Amino acid sequence: MENVKVQEGVKRETFTSQFGVLAAAAGSAIGLGNIWKFPYITGENGGAAFVLVYLLCIAVIGLPVMLSEFLIGRRSQKAAIGAFKDLKPGTPWFLTGWMGLLAAFFILSFYGVVAGWTLNYIVFSITNKLAGASPEVIGQTFGAFISDPVKPLFWQVAFMIMTAAILFGGVKDGIEKYSKILMPLLLVIILVLDVRALTLPGAGEGVRFLMEPHFDKLSIKGVLVALGHAFFSLSLGMGCMITYGSYIGKKQNLGSMALQVTIADTAIALLAGFAIFPAVFAFGVDPSAGPGLVFVTLPNVFNMMPGGYFFSILFFILLAVAALTSSISILEVIVTYFIEELKIKRSMAIIVGFVATTVFGVLCSLSMSPASVVSTWTFPTLAGMKNFFDTMDWWSANMFLPLGGLFISLFAGWIMKEQDVMDEVSSGGEFQVPWFKTFIWVARTLAPLMIFIVFLYSLGVIKV
Ligand code: TRP
Repeated sequence: MENVKVQEGVKRETFTSQFGVLAAAAGSAIGLGNIWKFPYITGENGGAAFVLVYLLCIAVIGLPVMLSEFLIGRRSQKAAIGAFKDLKPGTPWFLTGWMGLLAAFFILSFYGVVAGWTLNYIVFSITNKLAGASPEVIGQTFGAFISDPVKPLFWQVAFMIMTAAILFGGVKDGIEKYSKILMPLLLVIILVLDVRALTLPGAGEGVRFLMEPHFDKLSIKGVLVALGHAFFSLSLGMGCMITYGSYIGKKQNLGSMALQVTIADTAIALLAGFAIFPAVFAFGVDPSAGPGLVFVTLPNVFNMMPGGYFFSILFFILLAVAALTSSISILEVIVTYFIEELKIKRSMAIIVGFVATTVFGVLCSLSMSPASVVSTWTFPTLAGMKNFFDTMDWWSANMFLPLGGLFISLFAGWIMKEQDVMDEVSSGGEFQVPWFKTFIWVARTLAPLMIFIVFLYSLGVIKV
């Protein structure tokens, strides 16, 4: 079996084709972050200025950190905690991996809830529940659904079971096979939605919202959100891409892979924005409506297009699939930690990870239901007190991931031998890497410095 490498007596599966790795990594990156979260945080943070800062974070910080994760993973042939132990034994660097593990728990718990909503919306679409409904009714239906104490739980658990089931299939037959077919299909359907949304009467205002920056609408907290989302959307800072990097074959070009994943992820987010904001303004939805934005605007778009019935089913199926190729990458992080660090069997690791994140997820979901006591719990964040759901999101995306990214970048820049990094990114001299010096410089100084400055500002240490 040429796709199984033997190292230190341990068989490690690798992805089997160049396109397969790309699809799996892009499948991890492209998910609810792009289609659900990016539009609503853009709406909450004032539009174009936020988008610009986000794009800057992607280019200057996201791309080098992604390459750093890939190279750390492929060099060590281990998942995050093991990778740091392997490359720098006897030092506290492996704690970066532990923080990633915590982030994975936090993220997967609320991620499963929102992914559950998408499953419910598949059913709404099939049963034509929102057909012909006014924008207000569509909004109320969403609100009533997510604050129901029982219904969302059913879908959340169903989604988590699907996530675990795919991981039982392993890397090649599970993750790679599905990503390869479904990701390109998602792109096509978003393009169709873009055409419809951009030709709605009143669409121009949505386009302006995304393209005309007003920096006065952007706060320093917004900059932190943009940075955090760059990590979230690219699946960085928790060791996810370290784990996937360890599955990438030695002959593949890590630099071009990181670039392609970054471009694909960013393109999907922007395309989602251009499908959603024209509709937000055309139907008079509040752009800062929060997590319901996609679920409330797009059904209006479907109501206004020929074949809307068909497109809405397809869209929510693909959104669920995009969420699935991401959630498996998060659960895979947890599972590989358990296998490599606690030496438990893969099946056991999947079950433990599944149960823990599902229980946390139930609490996330209940925190939005006034009928449940969980909705009265609040926890501190730098942006004020938040409910359980928002707390999981806030701490993981805005703190753990950027901090993880900071350490990963420093690790690739300063701790690993430059020669080893060169060897890894050039695949042992196979590829030309004229950008190598720039990359090392960015990983050493520019990226860490920018993350650090954003932190100082948002902690209030530096005042604007
Ligand atoms: N990037 C995914 C999305 O945008 C979510 C995700 C998957 C993720 N793996 C991750 C986020 C690792 C942070 C870290 O939906």
